[in-house]
Amino acid sequence: MTKDIFASLVSRRSIAKVTDQPVSRSLVERVIEAGTFAPTHKRTDPWRFVVFEGDGRQKLADAMVEGYKQSNRDFSAEKLEKIAQKPFRAPVIVMVWCAVGRGKKNPPPWEDYAAVAACLQNMSLAAHGFGLGSIWRSGSLTHFPQVQALCQSGDDSFNLEMGDQIMGLLYIGHPDCNYPEPNRFPNPAQVNWLDG
Ligand SMILES: Cc1cc2nc3c(=O)[nH]c(=O)nc-3n(C[C@H](O)[C@H](O)[C@H](O)COP(=O)(O)O)c2cc1C
Repeated sequence: MTKDIFASLVSRRSIAKVTDQPVSRSLVERVIEAGTFAPTHKRTDPWRFVVFEGDGRQKLADAMVEGYKQSNRDFSAEKLEKIAQKPFRAPVIVMVWCAVGRGKKNPPPWEDYAAVAACLQNMSLAAHGFGLGSIWRSGSLTHFPQVQALCQSGDDSFNLEMGDQIMGLLYIGHPDCNYPEPNRFPNPAQVNWLDG
């Protein structure tokens, strides 16, 4: 591992505070491209992407709100408004979902999920390398059928019975310099060295 790679991966942080400044489509494409270089067992390439930018974010907001309304009897206008605002926290959101078992030969589902998690990490690191901020968000809103119905990428549609999973929403933008950079002090690794 070169020093540059090490320095990049230890300096990457989840950046929640970004500006409204648009992110160029070519940069978003390169971030996605970086994701597709993640390792994948049996070359299933299980990652699928949906990009929400500009007014397209409203589609995600509508699906989240509708999903929340359908699965919660008691909801307040304030709560719905809070949910509706979530996709507008960054100029671009890449929804990354895992299409399980679509290869000619397939590993166990967990290996497809693992590959897509690696894809998301590659994307975060690529964004960091381009000077962008990103944060990987998950949460219960991605479990709503209304949100999953937005997962149409290429020839594939979200199929819950196959085990498909929304693995994350990667919020991407230019870091807002008015907020301090977050710190990270990882716990020491728990390692058992068997060397004798
Ligand atoms: C699978 C996964 C899901 C995450 N979901 C959320 C989330 O829903 N909301 C959030 O604020 N951060 C989320 N994060 C980001 C973590 O909070 C963040 O990685 C952690 O605080 C460590 O900070 P760092 O990424 O700056 O090192 C998620 C991270 C992972 C790996």
